[in-house]
Amino acid sequence: MRTKVVIIGSGPSGLLLGQLLTNAGIDNLIVDRVGKDHILSRVRAGVLEEGTVGLVDRAGVGERLHREGLPHDGFSLAFDGRDHRIDLFDLTGGKRVMVYGQTELTRDLIERREHDGGVTIYDAANVVPSGFDGDQPHVTFEKNGVTQRIDCDFIAGCDGFHGASRKAVPEGAIKTFEKIYPFGWLGILADVPPVNHELIYANHPRGFALCSMRSETRSRYYVQCSLDDKVEMWSDDRFWDELRRRLPAHHAEVMITGPSFEKSIAPLRSFVAEPMRFGRMFLVGDAAHIVPPTGAKGLNLAASDVYYLIEGLLEHYQEKSDAALDAYSARALSRVWKAVRFSWSMTTLLHRFPDTGDFGQKIQEAELDYLTHSRAASTAMAENYVGLPY
Ligand code: FAD
Ligand code: DHB
Repeated sequence: MRTKVVIIGSGPSGLLLGQLLTNAGIDNLIVDRVGKDHILSRVRAGVLEEGTVGLVDRAGVGERLHREGLPHDGFSLAFDGRDHRIDLFDLTGGKRVMVYGQTELTRDLIERREHDGGVTIYDAANVVPSGFDGDQPHVTFEKNGVTQRIDCDFIAGCDGFHGASRKAVPEGAIKTFEKIYPFGWLGILADVPPVNHELIYANHPRGFALCSMRSETRSRYYVQCSLDDKVEMWSDDRFWDELRRRLPAHHAEVMITGPSFEKSIAPLRSFVAEPMRFGRMFLVGDAAHIVPPTGAKGLNLAASDVYYLIEGLLEHYQEKSDAALDAYSARALSRVWKAVRFSWSMTTLLHRFPDTGDFGQKIQEAELDYLTHSRAASTAMAENYVGLPY
């Protein structure tokens, strides 16, 4: 079988790239190691930058996002029993973010692909990209016990941090940078109204907490937890008690609790692989980089990678020029590193670190106090949170 672009991974980056290619009439095929139900059961990000929303619109898939998504003009930093609001709209000259679950975005993209007759091969085992260093790139995989090979012009490795694409690159051709944080996030979903109409990022001596949402009736809450913790150790009652303790009293007192229907623990990591292009294979999204979730950047970086790659692929097929493809890795990495820096700084500012003691807490309090009194400092945070320009 032959197609123009084989996309490994049916997460948000692979689906978005696939839709933009399909819209331009460029044949593509997606192959994923798991099934559609599994993909749609993942609960992950919730905050979309305007650039991401713009790309979803360009793909023609933004209708439900605009109908059901919640535009947010600001968020709160909570510490020392009080709130400091970061007024995104005011500080950035009119920019805002959109709260819309990654699960919903993925569902919209999958439905659109099915409607357009795009091909996705689910439950493919042993997916291996090969030949990308020469002029015969291809992807092999097993489906129902039969090995299949798809030849193509290009391979897009959109298969997440644990995927096959990055692993297929010879060790000497890639350099990686990594930082592992000494804690995780325990997250829950519950059908209760959000405690606040905007997100609250809380710094507390007991640890970080985040109050987010998926709708006006569904809340997404997180607390910093130990890497040794297991979900079974956290009953709903324990979670709600801990979350309330970490919030200023005026929020804790009005918080509505209820049974959770999703509970999971995620480790926190910063990771970048350089470069993001290996001959005829491109790494996109989590396959190339991971950020801790504190700055809400992971999904948005996957989208900006797609933006740079689709420019390159369109130019290749429509204008017979490879200039933008040649620039892909450098352009993407320049934006990636700024988001890695921002996510690291938000994580450092808001979490309890086991090894920094009272000194670390005092430095955090000083920075938070500085933020509340300096428009310049708040502006820098707002500018990064809404997303740097592409
Ligand atoms: P993915 O969403 O990981 O998609 C990769 C796809 O590739 C998957 O469908 C997978 O099944 C497939 N795949 C994997 N291996 C193979 C293989 N060998 N062969 C074929 N297919 C394969 N970001 C935020 O901004 N906020 C958050 O709160 C947040 N929470 C997160 C929680 C968790 C547990 C995780 C893992 C990530 C979270 N992120 C969050 C990050 C965000 O979800 C990711 O940045 C985003 O999903 C990246 O999209 P992607 O398409 O690049 O990769
Ligand atoms: C959500 C996750 C984040 O990491 C974040 O910074 C904001 C919101 C969420 O899941 O809603």
